Amino acid sequence: MNLLTSIQEQRAEVAVVGLGYVGLPLACRAAGAGLSVTGLDVDGTLIDLINSGQSPIEDVSSQELSEQIQSGRLTATTDPEVLNNADVIVICVPTPLKDELPDMSFIEAASKDVSRHLKAGQLVILESTTYPGTTEEFVLSILETSGLKAGEDFHLGFSPERIDPGNERFGLENVPKIIGGIDEKSTEMMEAFYSTFIDKVVKVSSPRAAEMAKLLENTYRHVNIALVNEIAILCHDLGIDVWEVIEAASTKPFGFQAFYPGPGWGGHCIPVDPAYLSWRVRQLGETARFVELAREINKKMPTYVVQRIGEALNNQGRSLKASKVLVLGITYKADVGDLRESSAIQILEKLAKSGADVGYHDPFVESVDLKGGRLSSVELNEETLSDYDIVMVHTNHSSYDWDFIAAHSPLVLDTRNALHGLQGNIVKL
Ligand SMILES: NC(=O)c1ccc[n+]([C@@H]2O[C@H](COP(=O)([O-])OP(=O)(O)OC[C@H]3O[C@@H](n4cnc5c(N)ncnc54)[C@H](O)[C@@H]3O)[C@@H](O)[C@H]2O)c1
Repeated sequence: MNLLTSIQEQRAEVAVVGLGYVGLPLACRAAGAGLSVTGLDVDGTLIDLINSGQSPIEDVSSQELSEQIQSGRLTATTDPEVLNNADVIVICVPTPLKDELPDMSFIEAASKDVSRHLKAGQLVILESTTYPGTTEEFVLSILETSGLKAGEDFHLGFSPERIDPGNERFGLENVPKIIGGIDEKSTEMMEAFYSTFIDKVVKVSSPRAAEMAKLLENTYRHVNIALVNEIAILCHDLGIDVWEVIEAASTKPFGFQAFYPGPGWGGHCIPVDPAYLSWRVRQLGETARFVELAREINKKMPTYVVQRIGEALNNQGRSLKASKVLVLGITYKADVGDLRESSAIQILEKLAKSGADVGYHDPFVESVDLKGGRLSSVELNEETLSDYDIVMVHTNHSSYDWDFIAAHSPLVLDTRNALHGLQGNIVKL
């Protein structure tokens, strides 16, 4: 049976390489659609957890995971030999930065594993966010070390993952999936595969275009976040409430999309992905100027926030040194437990370096390792709040009772406008 027919008849065997925030939801949804899926990860502890039906991420419930594991349609392993039996292989490994440069080691290692087990007729898809050209240059050349030829012996393409962890409205199924194969046949296979569990598939002419589309989306956010962060700083200097300004500007029914300032960016995407683009552009002898300027501004926010905490304390006749500062929420975004690139880490470390006595509360993070040692989440009660000289709102988790926080904190620096309209000693970003 050819690959297209076995995908269409849902008999295709799928292997998902990397079972993190991207790979695990994909593996579960594909299994839920009736495909037979094997997840492959280098992390043995994670594999044991997944096979026991316990989901390590918020976007996949343990119930959904257990159902798929029990049905036998989803299994997880650390053994790359499973790639031998796969018809479709999807690579979802990390693409972080190392010394501010793309770290391609995970894609390289995963591609080498795939290459060692590559069989004629397989479809290989890269989903990791990366620079344009990765699939057709970097991955393709590693896969061809198998002796098989891309396009002739196996199919290859790129499809960016666009999930937004914690978003209850838009998930894998109802966000259109961009696909770009190295040739028409590859794109056709990808369309058949994703259509089995995703509502809408959007074809582009090449993997490069698909890679670039993802970078455009993230760079768009990166640049607009920087713009609004800069506007927030200017508004503060001008004595204007930036939140009021954004609310007013948002009443324009066209031509304006609201972005909100914050204490800094975080997560695996926005602080990281645009750097993949600037790196690629630098190889051409050019500079991605917007990207780099936005990076400069966004990177400055944690320092700015520490300055603002100092300023707020100063206005109360206190100094940062020897004051007690409570950071509320330390994950990079609300209602997820993800600490990657979270600006809260830098803020806590900068505060401690300035001599402040720091603490934090986060329902998703029991403890965190900082340069100065390990810190554990404190309980959030009246006693704790009144014990701190200032509370800085970093992440607006939906479980927080803002009335309670406003009522019992001696002073708050609210970087999220979470306490809008509440009574208390509140300073806004
Ligand atoms: N997290 C997001 O919201 C998001 C959204 C869109 C795109 N992305 C992109 O998707 C990719 C994956 O991100 P993530 O958030 O899922 O990462 P993650 O760190 O949550 O998961 C990656 C997994 O890959 C495993 N892994 C690493 N090397 C491996 C190898 N050689 N073989 C098998 N497994 C390996 C790791 O152990 C880990 O479990 C990245 O390129 C990221 O930029 C992430």
